[in-house]
Amino acid sequence: LTVLSVASEVFPFLKTGGLADVAGALPGALQSHGIGVRTLMPGYPVVMAGIDPGAETVWSDESFFGGPARILAETRHGIDLLVLDAPHLYERFGGPYSGPDGVDYPDNALRFAALSKAGALVAQGALGGWRPDIVHAHDWQAALTPVYLAFSNAPRPRTVFTVHNLAFQGTFRYTVFPQLGLPDSAWSIEGVEYYGDVGFLKGGLHAADAVTTVSPTYAREILTSEGGMGLDGLLRGRGDRLVGIVNGIDTSVWSPETDPVIAKTYTARTVRERRHNKRALEGEFGLRREDGPILAVVSRLTWQKGLDLVAEIADEIVSLGARLVVVGSGDRLIEGAFLAAHARHPDRIGVRIGYDEPMSHRVQAGADAILVPSRFEPCGLTQLYGLRYGCVPLVSDVGGLADTVIDANFAAQRAKVATGFVFGPVTTDALLEAVGRLLDAYRDDAKWRTIQTRAMAFDVSWTASAALYAALYRDLLNE
Ligand code: ADP
Ligand code: GLC
Repeated sequence: LTVLSVASEVFPFLKTGGLADVAGALPGALQSHGIGVRTLMPGYPVVMAGIDPGAETVWSDESFFGGPARILAETRHGIDLLVLDAPHLYERFGGPYSGPDGVDYPDNALRFAALSKAGALVAQGALGGWRPDIVHAHDWQAALTPVYLAFSNAPRPRTVFTVHNLAFQGTFRYTVFPQLGLPDSAWSIEGVEYYGDVGFLKGGLHAADAVTTVSPTYAREILTSEGGMGLDGLLRGRGDRLVGIVNGIDTSVWSPETDPVIAKTYTARTVRERRHNKRALEGEFGLRREDGPILAVVSRLTWQKGLDLVAEIADEIVSLGARLVVVGSGDRLIEGAFLAAHARHPDRIGVRIGYDEPMSHRVQAGADAILVPSRFEPCGLTQLYGLRYGCVPLVSDVGGLADTVIDANFAAQRAKVATGFVFGPVTTDALLEAVGRLLDAYRDDAKWRTIQTRAMAFDVSWTASAALYAALYRDLLNE
């Protein structure tokens, strides 16, 4: 069985968030199910810089969305990659979606319509001998792939669309519609029309043969008016065509046993060795050495992630005897609140504004707990890294967080199944209460070790979820 995966970011080539990790790791996990995946992504400058000069051009077009384009094929880091090289669309200074000023590129609709269209062309045989059985498109940037296919008259493979975050919908003014190269009939409820605008995500949710999202709880939440972000009606209409499959993580990249960037490797059995990583982290962030735990944040600093609440209780965290390490960037107000907290407690609160992949590993290996107090969270990967590294997760009871962390309440501790701390609702009071419970547990060495080693034993690999994707692909083919 062959799959074409279409995604705007893929680890380790380009990453701004969890989507890249998923798009980078799922293909490898599907191999043992006899599924071969080719992955199509845009040729951003960092991606083109790493291209093997011998990479083969497998498709080209003189005039593709306003300029020349080609697809280069190569296998890199074990990923069978198809790179859409279209300098007029992707050769930009700045990030994949916005310039150095943080403002979205004005032609994002075309940039990602082009990615989606290239996906549809490959799906329908543009590479000559190769035709996938299934096309799997991710998030709004690839959401038009199933739309182009649904509105095409030629034979097409079955389509799966995965929504990683309903908050990012790719909505554009209706004036872009004529430039997308879709038939007029796509300007409709069945197509991309969305309250008078063009909705990429909306179109994909409607057109795909199956829709998935990244945890069972989020799959339920998005059917409600509170969680549906305006799309709950459409999603309810998809009925059993919508399923939630929880993300795994790449346990070869995220493994405390072999991690090359941490001070000291360890296993659940040698978890006390983590103290070397904690010392290193204290050094890296200029923190005073003391007995209490280090609580950590590695995240986009946005409203979704609830980190304004952590900034609000930063003083209490310190007065309760804990220290705080924050690595992230995003909302200027939240960045400022953490920097101010650092200024008040320079040797107990360490803050790095920015994005630093190796540092995220060192934090998971050296901090005692990872805080993920999201207001909504489709899946969340940082709590999974935390579980794997024995960096005990403290999470809100939403989406994938609720599906992957077992709260250390009395019963769960008795049964020795607790892997972290779960709180709700997402308020400073509830968060503080959970921080208090975490600190109590931390002071009881035996109790803490039990939670920590339980966490490390929890299966966060792709094994179970890759099997679910494989079954979904096969079900679609057999229909
Ligand atoms: P989202 O995709 O919504 O941002 P996830 O938890 O799914 O949330 O994935 C976030 C990914 O990005 C994780 O791999 C996390 O470690 C990483 N990450 C977020 N912020 C940073 C940062 N400042 N430095 C390094 N890695 C980060
Ligand atoms: C999105 C979600 C996050 C999820 C990630 C990968 O970025 O916000 O919860 O883990 O996609 O699926």
